[in-house]
Amino acid sequence: MTTILVLHGPNLSILGRRQPEIYGTTTLETIDEALRSRASAWGWEIIAVQSNHEGALIDTIESHYERIEGVLINPGALTHYGLSLRDALAALTVPIVEVHLSNIHARAEEWRHHSITGEVAKGIVSGFGWRSYLLGLDALRGIIDPGASPPA
Ligand code: DQA
Repeated sequence: MTTILVLHGPNLSILGRRQPEIYGTTTLETIDEALRSRASAWGWEIIAVQSNHEGALIDTIESHYERIEGVLINPGALTHYGLSLRDALAALTVPIVEVHLSNIHARAEEWRHHSITGEVAKGIVSGFGWRSYLLGLDALRGIIDPGASPPA
């Protein structure tokens, strides 16, 4: 079975009530369910973990690295300054896809425009709300299982 580690960084635990005008009203639970349902149609398994702590995200990566085929990550604000998280991701040999609910390049704060974690990802999906996660999962499928038929 193909196992994907889905990582959600700081403050994504409160999705749904966190600045809904930017991040939408969909909760993290709903996003994880949507990912699980899509993945299970392919016979894939999702392990989803959220943490507000960079070290805990790194611990999760280290403890799963032998049994995952890919990583889907929204690092939250760690995207912009999480050097330890970036190093942990860089140490992985499996493909990483980074996703963001908002378009980080179009945000008012200039510090959001650059992603240091994205530098070690295969690609970034940014700006499509909860759909960014599903698009990112589709992208991972294209990388891991390029012979698979297109999504129905
Ligand atoms: C975010 C964008 C980040 O700049 C922000 O710190 C987040 C969420 C997004 O999904 O749009 O926490 O990663």
